[in-house]
Amino acid sequence: MVPGLSVVLVGDDAASAVYVSNKEKASKACGMRGETIRLPASTSQAELLALVERLNADNAVHGILVQMPLPSGIDPDVVIRHIAPHKDVDGFHPVNVGKMLIGHTDGFMPCTPAGVIEMLLRSGVETRGAEAVIVGRSNIVGKPMAAMLVQARAGGDATVTVCHSRSRDLHAHTKRADILIVAAGRAEMIRGEHIKPGATVIDVGMNRVADASRASGSRLCGDVHFESAEAVAGKITPVPGGVGPMTIAMLLRNTVRAAERVADSRVGTA
Ligand code: GUN
Repeated sequence: MVPGLSVVLVGDDAASAVYVSNKEKASKACGMRGETIRLPASTSQAELLALVERLNADNAVHGILVQMPLPSGIDPDVVIRHIAPHKDVDGFHPVNVGKMLIGHTDGFMPCTPAGVIEMLLRSGVETRGAEAVIVGRSNIVGKPMAAMLVQARAGGDATVTVCHSRSRDLHAHTKRADILIVAAGRAEMIRGEHIKPGATVIDVGMNRVADASRASGSRLCGDVHFESAEAVAGKITPVPGGVGPMTIAMLLRNTVRAAERVADSRVGTA
């Protein structure tokens, strides 16, 4: 059987178009059946839900991903709840979010935080007993990141603090982090002086900022000011090239698992 991943892109957000094409390329490069369904920004919620229903019913499709953000007028929560949980390779459906929080492994974990955990494990960063501080409380990164780091297992067992725009003294928290994960969507907001010497710094940000020294007039950067942070941190991820490729790898892993579960459920029934 060939794992099949269907990615849905609604509208013409430039960053989303890049992410989606990277996902399609990666799925094809490892031998999956990858397709991208592009819909105009004028697509109605009812039309998108009808497409999701068609993909839910298609046996060649093991994973469905609807790229966020969606155009205004479409409620992302309604769309996410429409995706069959066993095809929700993004791990955004409430059933999968609940399983992740409980610590059950028969659902799907959201790709970006799962990629961060995988990086920590493979880099030999000890999470057990560590002070892990997360900056950002989004449903895609901050909240699931906290849920994963607190689980009683390898890659978990951390003492977790979640900071956000209303946190009283952000830097008092970031300065005591052994593991600092920044996913706030604010360019270069964390600098070397906000980091504990030797800390592991994971930069989940992806921002485009003006830069007159570049021919394009802009450059990509993370939520961490890399040069100042690199001098203080023990380990640090770059942007681009750090968390982004891990997100895609976890999406592919989830898609393979979705296909394997279908195959396993057929064993003995043929
Ligand atoms: N937009 C930003 N990150 C993601 C992601 O992981 N999945 C989807 N579907 N949309 C996103």
